[in-house]
Amino acid sequence: MDDVLTRGARIPALGFGTFRMPGAEVLEILPQALKTGFRHVDTAQIYQNEAEVGEVLAASGLARGEIFLTTKVWIDNFPKGRFRLSVEESLKKLKTDHVDLLLLHWPRFSDVPLADQIGFLNEVRAAGLAKDVGVSNYSSELMRKADALSAAPLVTNQIEYHPYLSQKAVLDQARAGGGSITAYYVMADGAVPQDPELREIGAKYGKTAAQIALRWILQQPQAIALSKTAKAERLAENFALFDFALTKEEMDRIHALARPEGRIVSPPGLAPEWDAA
Ligand SMILES: NC(=O)c1ccc[n+]([C@@H]2O[C@H](COP(=O)([O-])OP(=O)(O)OC[C@H]3O[C@@H](n4cnc5c(N)ncnc54)[C@H](OP(=O)(O)O)[C@@H]3O)[C@@H](O)[C@H]2O)c1
Repeated sequence: MDDVLTRGARIPALGFGTFRMPGAEVLEILPQALKTGFRHVDTAQIYQNEAEVGEVLAASGLARGEIFLTTKVWIDNFPKGRFRLSVEESLKKLKTDHVDLLLLHWPRFSDVPLADQIGFLNEVRAAGLAKDVGVSNYSSELMRKADALSAAPLVTNQIEYHPYLSQKAVLDQARAGGGSITAYYVMADGAVPQDPELREIGAKYGKTAAQIALRWILQQPQAIALSKTAKAERLAENFALFDFALTKEEMDRIHALARPEGRIVSPPGLAPEWDAA
């Protein structure tokens, strides 16, 4: 497994995602994901499965230092008085005294100014509750603002990223500061596994379209990919990404699949003004 070095943090390039994975499913699939070799696990307060993630990690026999664990603070917990408490609750559920990475899940500005959100993130980091901190669903402009406000380096911006959505502005901003992006929704809601062009590229390597999209992320500088599956038979598939490499021409062909209407995740009330695609 490759690592991405980003502003002093070392993040395993491929992570296992647990969004839309109820606790019972986590108990079933996460032990198998760890057996497959996944060592980076992504959860969030809002996923309501931190307790089960913690249970599986505790029972895994793996040392805490072998796992890279991320959780995200939900927007309701941004106010002063709730932020740190919510992280302490997360840690209790996760059965650990720290996460490797703590993210602000979505931007929200109505009641808690960005400076406060970033300040609270820095406070919990300084208290040792999180080794590193970052953001999620930030535009390049928000990244710039957040960077300017943060004492600690913001090591990643977790964003929707797949072949149909150019994230050039965000990627450029992250790379310029030595940071990274972490890609979610790489399957683009089921479109990627069906894509004829990705399938055609995959045929050359004996790989599926899903593997080609994940590999395409991993081959980009300063990019980390998350992959979620509740199906045991897909775990090995989604992990088998390190025994082949796409050519520059294939990378470019996949970049060319991006389209202006490619964004899928943009919840009203949470989404910021996105960069032009
Ligand atoms: N920060 C944020 O706001 C945010 C938002 C969304 C997600 N995330 C994080 O990113 C992770 C990944 O995103 P995601 O959950 O949307 O997952 P994804 O990796 O894009 O997968 C989406 C769906 O594709 C299916 N799939 C997975 N591997 C496949 C394969 N090889 N062939 C065909 N289908 C496949 C899975 O269904 P099955 O389970 O049925 O296999 C899964 O439900 C999340 O779990 C979460 O940790 C973060």
